[in-house]
Amino acid sequence: MGAFGFEAMPQLETQRLVLREINPAADLQALYDLFADDRVAMSTDTGPFTEMREAQEVMDWFGALFTSHQGLRWAITMREGDGSMIGTCGFNIWNRRNNSAEIGYDLNPEYWGRGIALEAVEAMIAWGFENMELNRIQADVMAHNDRSARVLEKLGFSHEGVQRQGGYWRDEYHDLHYFGLLRDGSR
Ligand SMILES: CC(C)(COP(=O)(O)OP(=O)(O)OC[C@H]1O[C@@H](n2cnc3c(N)ncnc32)[C@H](O)[C@@H]1OP(=O)(O)O)[C@@H](O)C(=O)NCCC(=O)NCCS
Repeated sequence: MGAFGFEAMPQLETQRLVLREINPAADLQALYDLFADDRVAMSTDTGPFTEMREAQEVMDWFGALFTSHQGLRWAITMREGDGSMIGTCGFNIWNRRNNSAEIGYDLNPEYWGRGIALEAVEAMIAWGFENMELNRIQADVMAHNDRSARVLEKLGFSHEGVQRQGGYWRDEYHDLHYFGLLRDGSR
């Protein structure tokens, strides 16, 4: 048994999706394409990529998250498809002392508006409550990112406040809206 209580990345299946282990070589181009796209990059602290090296750095970080037991990141794939990675999701920061974790997710814009992010994040948080002994799951969302806020609200997250200028990337400070979901479902 590893420190997670599991040794390999678990595979999660939903009605339309398979959340599988990311393949560092085969999925690199898809990762590059995701964050080279301004529509994705503008709502995250990553990208827009202009060089493959940047995708490789994020890929290395995903791998290190798992090996250092600080989190895990899945490839989002369609069940009825060629298995290619259309987005990613996972737990970025797992605080074992507080039994809390922060999530992140992103989806290729071609797939937006079909409930895919909702389905992926729902599966992931259910798995986290069950397998990581989490009591609290949180997400921070940039002020303009209504799409992401809606996904979280539909899943029962509460808007807990705004951390003013809580993030700094692309040479700017960004207000971060904090969303949280508790194991007991209280709001
Ligand atoms: C955030 C992000 C992942 C959300 O993707 P999305 O496609 O907008 O979200 P979903 O796939 O869950 O779609 C939800 C919408 O699809 C609609 N939908 C269509 N079919 C659906 C179905 N079968 N089930 C549920 N919703 C469905 C819903 O009505 C909903 O629209 P609404 O909120 O206007 O009612 C995506 O916008 C993204 O990658 N953004 C850039 C990166 C990012 O912001 N990451 C999060 C940082 S906090």
